Amino acid sequence: MKRRLELTVNDECLDVEIEPHRTLLEVLREELGFTGAKEGCGLGACGACTVLVDGAPVLSCLTLALEVQGKTVTTVEGLVKNGQPDPVQKAFVDHGAIQCGFCTPGSVMSAKALLEKNSNPSGQEIREALAGNLCRCTGYQKIIEAVGSLAKPR
Ligand code: FES
Ligand code: FES
Repeated sequence: MKRRLELTVNDECLDVEIEPHRTLLEVLREELGFTGAKEGCGLGACGACTVLVDGAPVLSCLTLALEVQGKTVTTVEGLVKNGQPDPVQKAFVDHGAIQCGFCTPGSVMSAKALLEKNSNPSGQEIREALAGNLCRCTGYQKIIEAVGSLAKPR
């Protein structure tokens, strides 16, 4: 039997009828049209599905949609304001940290969460925050540099 899910996605209050076994990733992509979060492994191993729930990064492939009842979800689409990319997105572009782009939404969301709670992360802290975001293309260094370029010395 379907259940009603009420949540906020990218500042928009939404409700949707879903089957209880549906994951947050499935509901975002297939029911609500937010296709930014990607399904890589579907098993919690790659980070491509990372979104923010109440500001914290979560793997949406491992999260039941009903677990976010009443919560606030941010996907990569939600980072764009007034048609302008978020500084994290811009830094990834400027530093060549995107190749095929499949991992990018997840990596950007992990970086965003890190910078929200730590405005001046060290290289080690950046590596740790992004350790769950696998990338087959970039070799990671450009991603680390992109995030590091946003660190603001206190
Ligand atoms: S698709 Fe969620 S961790 Fe890989
Ligand atoms: S840019 Fe291709 S997987 Fe990361």
